[in-house]
Amino acid sequence: MTDPAAEPSALENLLSEDRRFPPAPEFVAQANAHRDLYAWAAADRVGFWADQARELITWQTPFTQTLDWSNAPFATWFADGTLNACDNAVDRHVRAGHGDRVALYFEGEPGDTRTITYADLQREVSRAANALQALGVTTGDRVALYMPLIPEAVVAMLACARIGAPHSVVFGGFSAEALHSRILDAEAKLVVTADGGYRRGNPTSLKPAVDEALAKGAPTVEHVLVVRRTGQPVDWTEGRDVWWHEAVAAASDEHTPVPVPAEHPLFILYTSGTTGKPKGVLHTTGGYLTQCAYTHLNVFDLKPDTDVYWCTADIGWVTGHSYVVYGPLVNGATQVIYEGTPDTPDRGRWWDVVAKYRVSILYTAPTAIRTCMKWGDDIPAARDLSSLRVLGSVGEPINPEAWTWYRRVIGGDRTPVVDTWWQTETGAIMISPLPGVTEAKPGSAQVPLPGVAAEVVDDDGTPVPNGSGGYLVITEPWPAMLRGIWGDPDRYVDTYWSRFKHLYFAGDGAKKDEDGDIWLLGRVDDVMNVSGHRLSTTEIESALVSHPWVAEAAVVGASDETTGQAVVAFVILRGDSEGLTRTPAEVEAELRAHVATQIGPIAKPRQILVVPELPKTRSGKIMRRLLRDVAEHRAVGDATTLADQSVMDLIAAGLSSPASAAD
Ligand code: WT7
Repeated sequence: MTDPAAEPSALENLLSEDRRFPPAPEFVAQANAHRDLYAWAAADRVGFWADQARELITWQTPFTQTLDWSNAPFATWFADGTLNACDNAVDRHVRAGHGDRVALYFEGEPGDTRTITYADLQREVSRAANALQALGVTTGDRVALYMPLIPEAVVAMLACARIGAPHSVVFGGFSAEALHSRILDAEAKLVVTADGGYRRGNPTSLKPAVDEALAKGAPTVEHVLVVRRTGQPVDWTEGRDVWWHEAVAAASDEHTPVPVPAEHPLFILYTSGTTGKPKGVLHTTGGYLTQCAYTHLNVFDLKPDTDVYWCTADIGWVTGHSYVVYGPLVNGATQVIYEGTPDTPDRGRWWDVVAKYRVSILYTAPTAIRTCMKWGDDIPAARDLSSLRVLGSVGEPINPEAWTWYRRVIGGDRTPVVDTWWQTETGAIMISPLPGVTEAKPGSAQVPLPGVAAEVVDDDGTPVPNGSGGYLVITEPWPAMLRGIWGDPDRYVDTYWSRFKHLYFAGDGAKKDEDGDIWLLGRVDDVMNVSGHRLSTTEIESALVSHPWVAEAAVVGASDETTGQAVVAFVILRGDSEGLTRTPAEVEAELRAHVATQIGPIAKPRQILVVPELPKTRSGKIMRRLLRDVAEHRAVGDATTLADQSVMDLIAAGLSSPASAAD
């Protein structure tokens, strides 16, 4: 584990940030959030969450129990209540007379659009739920989704929720290999996919990866339900494969949601950890929905009848689960979903979307903000962004420059910016300013939300004083917390609850400034954050050593101006391998392609360096800190614990031609 305070210079720069953005009086006057929320939650934290659960969620059977922590770290919330997530996200809005309200404005990358009201959504989701049941899916069965960001993806998730079948969404950028291991781990009965989607102006394919994954053997999968999106030809397995447009269109548009207990699994979402095997993070229904709805309402100041909300995340990530599907829909919001990339057909696409739909709340990632910054102010300046009133950021620390640019250029120097810290495991936002309440500090996520108890602690688990750094922990259970790792309760306890006694360890380093505000400093474990996406160093190392040319590999996250971190790999080739006869550029290309097949294109190293040795301690542990110095072109730090002092010289000598093949 690295010392979170190891790079004091960058930190001091951050903490000397003295710009302040107090909430504007006009904003305060209409804000959902108010200062009293903190006092309310502090007076009775569990009671506060119960109040939120009663107010924001429709229960089939009201709960009488709140938190049960007697079997810690396994929590239950509202356990004797029953509800249905899809009923909360769709049907109840129609019952309340909001059937004509737009739920989704879909903008396809090629420019095709669809407008879907809550009444439309109810019919679509009912048809899909009936189709799923006709394919044999029942309450408790797992369904894997591997889809582009199209309305059918949202409908498929909700249809699963409607029958109480936990979904496991696998990001479309993951490989067949990665999809296969996730299907096996969850023992999915059905896979929902599409022929493909549109990205950067071209159709990309998805169905072939599903075919390949299932060809590796997946005994639990009975059917593959395929949405036709691009119309490209696909291979077809008779009896197994079913077209969505046939099965769903044929089904009745009436369906009764299945009420489930609050602790019924809603979904599994795989995320990278510090080992090679991704973890199936498990979320359940009642507590998760409560915290998604509460945070979405207060952190974004959502006004469901007037706002147009847009979160740019893909449904393959937790942000897409909590802030595209469940949070906004449970709150009855109107939102935009956009299939493609920000630069197609040109670099103004996002701002065209904002102007076209009069988007008022925008939630995106620092990497995207920095990319837009690089493209130039004139692009957003040429569009009408006056509808925007709240801006959010998530996924990685946002540097003060990007924060102030976001507010000034996108937010017209007028909108609050909320930097929201949370994780796949936390399920919903945990640390964030509240617009209309908090005086904002660019670069800091600032304070735990009302109802959330977070601390920064030292090595012994003791809270650090203001002005000091340490490890971020959550000190009390929260409603949207993960309930475990699918099929591996021990790993849940080991990963999150063993580093500090009775504290949830998030894996992030953090510092409290003189006011007690929290600044996130990045991961302190072997997890990288590339463009807000979590990648495991170990997972990429295993992918590299699975290539016949590679004897050993070490991966580090090197800081990168745009993506936050970038993957840099150091490999030793086998003495007898064909790789030795190739140029460094050829080796790099071959191994990058191999990582793409093993994990997915997002995991491709920016740079792969062939080295004769790796720096190791006497006990054989790779000293990644030294490799990071090399990758970031710094003077190599203290190497006195190296077993072989000449190794760094050898590496430096071998790096005279650092060909980089980033794309
Ligand atoms: C890790 C969680 C939460 C949705 C997207 C990522 C980093 C997330 C922030 C933020 C600094 C952040 C942390 C965290 N992170 N938000 N506002 N400031 N760091 O979800 O893949 O589960 O990754 O992302 O390192 O542990 P994830």
